Amino acid sequence: PPPPSDLPAAIGALRRERNAVILAHYYQDDAIQDIADFIGDSLELARKAAATEADVIVFCGVHFMAETAKILNPGKTVLLPDLEAGCSLADACPADRFAAFRAEHPEHIVVSYINCSAAVKAQSDLICTSSNAVDLVRQLPENRPILFAPDQNLGRWVQNQSGRDLTLWPGSCQVHETFSEQALLQLKLEHPDAEVLAHPECQQHLLDLADFIGSTSRLLARAAESEAPAFIVLTEPGILHQMRQRVPGKAFHEVPGADGCSCNACPYMRLNTLEKLWRCLAEMAPAIELEEELRLRALAPIEKMLAMSR
Ligand code: 13P
Ligand code: SF4
Repeated sequence: PPPPSDLPAAIGALRRERNAVILAHYYQDDAIQDIADFIGDSLELARKAAATEADVIVFCGVHFMAETAKILNPGKTVLLPDLEAGCSLADACPADRFAAFRAEHPEHIVVSYINCSAAVKAQSDLICTSSNAVDLVRQLPENRPILFAPDQNLGRWVQNQSGRDLTLWPGSCQVHETFSEQALLQLKLEHPDAEVLAHPECQQHLLDLADFIGSTSRLLARAAESEAPAFIVLTEPGILHQMRQRVPGKAFHEVPGADGCSCNACPYMRLNTLEKLWRCLAEMAPAIELEEELRLRALAPIEKMLAMSR
């Protein structure tokens, strides 16, 4: 059917009819953030998905996030507005190559960033997100070596923060690798009072120029509590929508990509639109499906993460 003229009203009506909850990541379009029941970082969204009493979870984020929600809620319908919303990190870590990497390091504890497929989670001892990675790695037994996949930039930061030596899978986020150091230096010159907030998926040379490093929620919290009059934000610019709402009156500057391009927006996250959100609720598709045996193997390291996270 053709989309209704008032999409927010139609989404609201379907949400009630289906007893659905709409979860959204900060990298979603402003209009999706505005209609969501809950907006959060990866850990908060996983926790929300685990605790919800709704019958249907509409996950406005990327595939690995919706898949995690399904792993935690096999009895619920989990919808993803666009099934093509993947992630360069998850794509760069295929399960068969990951199995070979693990086989080369049989003594290691395997810690995987939540940005990976269920098949990689199923081969991991522990899942982490950018907000709990340092804390979780610090809790691991000191006499065991650690493998960390698939984000090498986050892994290097966790290594520096935790003091633990990590063997890193060579993956990276295509969005956080595009930020131009030259553009960042230029913005710092133009706004000398601005605080630089960076996501740990950024490359080391950019993290070296940051004043504060953390997950999307931590960056938002930092902007709210900091005395600085302005911020330069090294992560996907979707988060600026919440920053500007929560901290009115302060300036937020996004950092462009290397050619001045706006490729700092995540092409996967941005596949979701208000119209696709309406359509998935109307059609109850596309829904995430998982084999039970794989789901159970992927569930164990996620539950371990939730139990170990403070
Ligand atoms: P967080 O929101 O957990 O910081 O994750 C960022 C990200 O890249 C999600 O894809
Ligand atoms: Fe994946 Fe990077 Fe997009 Fe996050 S921003 S979903 S890590 S490609």
